[in-house]
Amino acid sequence: MADNDVTSSSPAANQNPNSDHTVDPNANDSETSIDSIAQQLQDGITLSKRHKFWESQPVGQFKDAGNPNLLEGPIEPPTPLSEVKQQPYNLPGPYEWITCDMDTKEMCSEVYSLLTNNYVEDDENMFRFNYSKDFLQWALRPPGYYRSWHIGVRVKLSKKLVAFVTGVPAKIRVKDTIVDMAEINFLCVHKKLRSKRLAPVMIKEVTRRVHLENIWQATYTAGVVLPTPISTCQYWHRSLNPKKLIDVGFSRLGSRMTMSRTIKLYKLPDSPITPGFRKMELRDVPAVTRLLRGYLKQFIVAPDFDEKDVEHWLLPKEDVVDSYLVESSETHAVTDFCSFYTLPSTVIGNQNYSILKAAYSYYNVSTKTPLLQLMNDALIEAKKKGYDVFNALNVMENEVFLKELKFGPGDGQLQYYLYNYRLNQTLRPSDLGLVLL
Ligand SMILES: CC(C)(COP(=O)(O)OP(=O)(O)OC[C@H]1O[C@@H](n2cnc3c(N)ncnc32)[C@H](O)[C@@H]1OP(=O)(O)O)[C@@H](O)C(=O)NCCC(=O)NCCS
Repeated sequence: MADNDVTSSSPAANQNPNSDHTVDPNANDSETSIDSIAQQLQDGITLSKRHKFWESQPVGQFKDAGNPNLLEGPIEPPTPLSEVKQQPYNLPGPYEWITCDMDTKEMCSEVYSLLTNNYVEDDENMFRFNYSKDFLQWALRPPGYYRSWHIGVRVKLSKKLVAFVTGVPAKIRVKDTIVDMAEINFLCVHKKLRSKRLAPVMIKEVTRRVHLENIWQATYTAGVVLPTPISTCQYWHRSLNPKKLIDVGFSRLGSRMTMSRTIKLYKLPDSPITPGFRKMELRDVPAVTRLLRGYLKQFIVAPDFDEKDVEHWLLPKEDVVDSYLVESSETHAVTDFCSFYTLPSTVIGNQNYSILKAAYSYYNVSTKTPLLQLMNDALIEAKKKGYDVFNALNVMENEVFLKELKFGPGDGQLQYYLYNYRLNQTLRPSDLGLVLL
């Protein structure tokens, strides 16, 4: 469910029209703006809305918010494995469960085409996420992954894949506790099968298969508000190719701006400016792991990465994940690190363009190089590689560079959730050290 989008369920997350292609310093803190009143009304409606499925699940419920008598930690204790339901949940007659073997080209292609045609779109249906096959294989096969957590639903007769949901294992630290979790992602039901309550069955089935591995907690993100977010984050967007972004309707020309002034505004140097800035290599895994582990300690919720995780998640993989570091010329110590992953969106129904190439900020650590300078170098690399836009959530310390580096706020929010784990406080985005794909 990590759709990396905003309340509008926007894969490309349109820039806030108010951002006007310059950065509006008040865009994020105008308590009295019409936007924020509208948001409060929306929240009110959402809060009063019934969630027949989610109210039956071990997740924080809206009615319990702020109740100091409820203990932090697991909401329900684990059950003995022998008591976990052994058979899959029932599907409507014409459909059957499959376990997707993401090692095979054929399966990858089927999943790719389901998602490419049916996964997250923005409110105006202008963009749809287009995760590449290589990306899907990377995202779904980290160290210790379970094939049984890659779940599809087919039409029995035609064998057509019509729904999908996945989990991958992750150690997530919540405050002082390291919890074995599933990261749930890629929940998708074919457009023709929507609103038939198939999603709750998908979620129950992935939960059952997670339980069978003796794992009882999960984390996920979504553009929609469900019971109950641990944090509400926002996407910000940094134009790299402003002309194309304007041409495809991703952003607008500011009222007092011309195209050439806009292009000039977003121009970047040709190459990174930090001495010792270079691509991460296999030999850097131990140093990057140390750096990242030290850095992530400060956040309330963050992954507990070991070297195997770092090798999988952060070693550069062409058109999937890019990582750079700063190596001191004197000591050869790795002092800083930045990374982004590649998630293009299909541009729906545009005559000139079919794809928007987007980079998404992933994990960044600065100890010697100022974060602002490090991220400027990341922008330069992304621009060199032909990305149209660089997106970043306001998690971790990202607020430090967003406005300064000419990111504009997106028009919605990304909610973070924990399953079967209660936190007695709502977290600020800057308390989160976790990025889901
Ligand atoms: C998300 C999606 C699978 C939901 O399916 P649907 O056919 O719209 O909804 P269903 O009738 O099957 O189920 C509705 C239930 O699923 C819940 N639900 C909807 N979206 C959800 C999400 N992203 N994560 C978790 N639960 C979700 C609803 O809240 C509702 O439960 P409730 O009554 O307790 O509130 C489907 O809309 C879809 O494929 N959308 C495009 C891809 C997408 O947005 N994926 C989610 C990324 S986070």
